[in-house]
Amino acid sequence: MMKKFVFGNPIETDAIVCREGIVESQEKVPYFSRVDDRQGEGCLFAYEMGGHDIIYGLGESIRGINKRGWIYESNCTDDPIHTENKRSLYAAHNFFLVDGKGRFGVFVDAPQKVTFDFGYYERDRLTITVDPGGFILYILEGESLRQIVREFRHAIGRSYIPPKWGMGYGQSRWGYQNAQDIRQVVRQHREAGVPLDSVYMDIDYMERYKDFTVDKGKFPDFPEFVKEMKGQNIHLVPIIDAGVKIEEGYPAYEEGIENGYFCKKEDGTEFVGGVWPGRVHFPDMLKEEARSWFGQKYKFLIDQGIDGFWNDMNEPALFYGEDHLKDIFRELGEYQKKELDIETFFGMKDMVLGLSNHPKDYQAFYHEYKGEVIRHDKVHNLYGYYMTRAAGEAFEKIEPDKRLLMFSRASYIGMHRYGGVWMGDNCSWWSHLLLNLQMLPGLNMCGFLYTGADLGGFGSDVTEDLLLRWLELGIFTPLMRNHSAQGTRLQEFYRFGHVESFRNIIGLRYALLPYLYSEYVKAAMTDDMMFLPLPFAYPDDPAAAGVEDQLMVGEGMMIAPVYRQNARGRYVYLPEEMKLYRMRSEESMEVQVLPAGHHYVEAELDQVLIFIRPDHVAPLAKGGCHVEEVDVSCLRLLHFIKTEAVYELYDDDGYRKITDWEQGVTKITVAVNGEVTASGSKTGTYVLI
Ligand code: GLC
Repeated sequence: MMKKFVFGNPIETDAIVCREGIVESQEKVPYFSRVDDRQGEGCLFAYEMGGHDIIYGLGESIRGINKRGWIYESNCTDDPIHTENKRSLYAAHNFFLVDGKGRFGVFVDAPQKVTFDFGYYERDRLTITVDPGGFILYILEGESLRQIVREFRHAIGRSYIPPKWGMGYGQSRWGYQNAQDIRQVVRQHREAGVPLDSVYMDIDYMERYKDFTVDKGKFPDFPEFVKEMKGQNIHLVPIIDAGVKIEEGYPAYEEGIENGYFCKKEDGTEFVGGVWPGRVHFPDMLKEEARSWFGQKYKFLIDQGIDGFWNDMNEPALFYGEDHLKDIFRELGEYQKKELDIETFFGMKDMVLGLSNHPKDYQAFYHEYKGEVIRHDKVHNLYGYYMTRAAGEAFEKIEPDKRLLMFSRASYIGMHRYGGVWMGDNCSWWSHLLLNLQMLPGLNMCGFLYTGADLGGFGSDVTEDLLLRWLELGIFTPLMRNHSAQGTRLQEFYRFGHVESFRNIIGLRYALLPYLYSEYVKAAMTDDMMFLPLPFAYPDDPAAAGVEDQLMVGEGMMIAPVYRQNARGRYVYLPEEMKLYRMRSEESMEVQVLPAGHHYVEAELDQVLIFIRPDHVAPLAKGGCHVEEVDVSCLRLLHFIKTEAVYELYDDDGYRKITDWEQGVTKITVAVNGEVTASGSKTGTYVLI
């Protein structure tokens, strides 16, 4: 049951696409009391939580799986320091579930800033504050947490499914300069026997950071180079930034100016901001013609053989607004004449340090959206979503039958139909490995199935053990990409002493691909989650409720990664008896059945813990050096059979868009005596291991 409550004149976000079954209500919002409209400063709702209520959701946000005890702001922000004290990251995912005294879901459909206080000011009080402007509140009820999520997901439309190669391993670094650098990365992976499907091209591939250009000096014959890489089964994935460089003679700039596609200030002139290329204009992604123009620009690269992209800096990130910068320079002149005492010095410092992503700048430009002129801050959280939508809508026209890889940094619910998200500029910190795990279920709830973090960490220097442990989680995330910032320690796997450990663990991912891909597709097709907190699978187990560092992956598997330095194992909670596969590689494993309860489980640095639920199986293929090479002719089954297991394996060619997945389903049945039968599309050999 999904009820809709409209307040004021909301701006349509296109987050909800299936309205069937949604009841518009004039009654009072259940569970919440409306405290006040805060004299035009926004609207506030409050709910009294039970002492042990748990809150799930909010997609990409900091802190634990249980979001209780902190205050979060949906206000897409380019902030590369993801520490506990922050309130906003890059996304605005305004959906959460309360489980305890009451069980319900809430979606605040509002493109402006929304603040969620989950027991921050008062321990048992949950409040939602929506900044001025209209909005819609949806309240969902259902018989289980999972069912509420399904209903919500159904309303927001089917999640994006990537090409299969997008679930292979991708190597990235901000710093690869040219074709030579990329060739070398590929060669070293191949020589070290480390599987690889894609190499990411960060901003340096462009001519002076101009979107839809390729630097000829660095890539003399780009289409030929793309072909050469494809010949080695490597997909190149270029970055696209939101801001368009202001430069006479640059087509994207000139077309944008000529057709009025850029965001304008109140006086009708184009807003100027600063990002990587220096001075830029921001395409008005919300304006239909501008969006379709920007989307068509991707064709420039698609025509040269590119089949994947990542959209960046689309909060949009603003190093500075030009007018604001001028004010600061002027004020600095004034400061020169002053005595820099405690107040003046810190005043000056705060003024300069606060220059980027300043609220004042987000109030200085406008969009044309669905026939209205709207100030940016009123729709701020839609910008990244609409940039990715621009690409997604264009891809439908450019490549109607093919799946292209697409993920973005900024997002709002609704964008999940066009692409995935990566978790932004994390750091090579052990705490961020755990954060990576904790973000996964919340993202799934909000529709984002294609996701992963910069494996190994983007900022600061990685160590070999952290990278390996991180990979041991990364092999389960659909987006599995190692990315790092320039200036940090190089972190390609082949640079470390125990390259065989990396090769083995990543080999395990490729072997697990049939299971992971199948579970991904099922989650997308049935509006379900691929990564579940334990209580979603074991709602009646009170001990499962507190588990913050284990996840169910698909229907039959539980993972419990090690995320502490120097640990040689960890405590794991089993809500029921399970079979543990302690795996060093796709070939080497120790197997043990563990009873329900708490256990200390050993896991050496190069060992991954995979738990299989009773009467479930997970197929393992023979891995390969890239996705095309994965051999599914003989599937070995991780299994724990008490009576019988039935598994539906989904598969396809990995490229074409498919609506009728029935064609690709194989039903695998394992009887208690170990006999395996299969029917459907893939009837190869099956072996129990
Ligand atoms: C941003 C992105 C990061 C990228 C960098 C340079 O910080 O989040 O992934 O490497 O920009 O383009």
